[in-house]
Amino acid sequence: MSDTHILITGGAGFIGSHLVRHFLNAYPSYTITNLDSLTYAGNLVNLRDVEHLGNYRFVKGDITDAPFIENLFSENRFDGVIHLAAESHVDRSIASPLEFVTTNVIGTVNLLDAARRCWAGDFSGKRFYHISTDEVYGSLGREGIFTEETPYDPHSPYSASKASSDHFVRAWHDTYGLPVVISNCSNNYGPCQFPEKLIPLFINNIRLKKPLPVYGKGENIRDWLWVIDHASAIDVIYHRGNNGETYNIGGHNEWTNIDLIRLLCVIMDRKLGREPGESAKLITYVTDRAGHDLRYAIDSSKLQRELGWAPSIRFEEGLERTVEWYLDNQEWLDQVTSGAYRDYYEKMYSSSGAGS
Ligand code: NAD
Ligand code: DAU
Repeated sequence: MSDTHILITGGAGFIGSHLVRHFLNAYPSYTITNLDSLTYAGNLVNLRDVEHLGNYRFVKGDITDAPFIENLFSENRFDGVIHLAAESHVDRSIASPLEFVTTNVIGTVNLLDAARRCWAGDFSGKRFYHISTDEVYGSLGREGIFTEETPYDPHSPYSASKASSDHFVRAWHDTYGLPVVISNCSNNYGPCQFPEKLIPLFINNIRLKKPLPVYGKGENIRDWLWVIDHASAIDVIYHRGNNGETYNIGGHNEWTNIDLIRLLCVIMDRKLGREPGESAKLITYVTDRAGHDLRYAIDSSKLQRELGWAPSIRFEEGLERTVEWYLDNQEWLDQVTSGAYRDYYEKMYSSSGAGS
């Protein structure tokens, strides 16, 4: 029986909740502590099916609170950290950049330093895994692809804060010998994504017959990955990646926004029993996002070659499954858009400290 204890930060969010479930299912002998401050993006409903498990524990806490983090590490013998907690939405970073610096940079440094101090003297068998984004590499033209060697060139406050946190992670490796690994992933999609991001926002708006705000001409390109494939890549990298290394994760699946939106409209018309073309009438071109990166495309051949990971499903199938999930879980959509679930958590966890 393994006594491995992993701290996952941001486990109540979109990717984090899939990752927590993946680890609990794949490694029943591990203990998983999920640390999350439950911002608007954190939702424990995402984990309802696994929260009863004896080897799962939720702790409500803020990664920017250094004494709290220090205490958490000294009270627990974590073998590893998988760090996802972050402010993650580009548009919000344009409106409130300092929150992104605080959470994504200071929060990451707090965790790095707590791990360094707690593990001091014995890093063997330890791992600090930082989850990052392809946005740190900047924007591609029509040609080219991001490799692990592509120089950093972030443009939004969000991507600048993630790039900064990546540099701090490498600094803790190079300066203190902390055993770190970093992955940079492309756009994720799937169940439980907060409906501010393109795909769930547009699914929600189509079901409510609200306009679909396409930024600029809709010609920007993103490389989409099924969120559960991201979780399986993180598993492989956590267990078999090399210390100090970076791995790119992506699905070789580039779509212009407008092509993706048109496909989504076709699927939604079919699922909702609407006339073909009805949802596409909601498409509304709006002012472009400031500093909008034109194209992301990830070369994940290092991960595929060295660690044998590959994405499991085609985008058309994943998008269909995604639509089905949101239509089957309209209550989830209504709750997260009404803020009802936040009122509940305010009441549940109004005093600080461990949630359960
Ligand atoms: P998300 O916004 O859905 O979830 C973030 C989680 O972090 C939430 O549960 C939130 O409550 C928690 N959190 C925020 N601030 C916190 C704090 N100060 N202390 C503790 N918890 C806090 O984000 P996501 O889309 O699941 O992204 C997770 C990670 O993966 C982020 O680091 C993001 O940069 C990275 N990433 C995301 C994508 C993507 O397409 N969504 C792609 C590549 C990388
Ligand atoms: O590439 C990885 C990144 O992907 C992650 O690091 C981020 O956390 C995640 O939010 C995502 O960033 P994007 O900015 O690419 O995702 P978003 O869903 O916000 O937008 C996808 C594309 O759709 C982008 O080109 C902007 C466009 N868009 C988005 C919204 C919300 C629109 O045209 N209209 C919209 O209303």
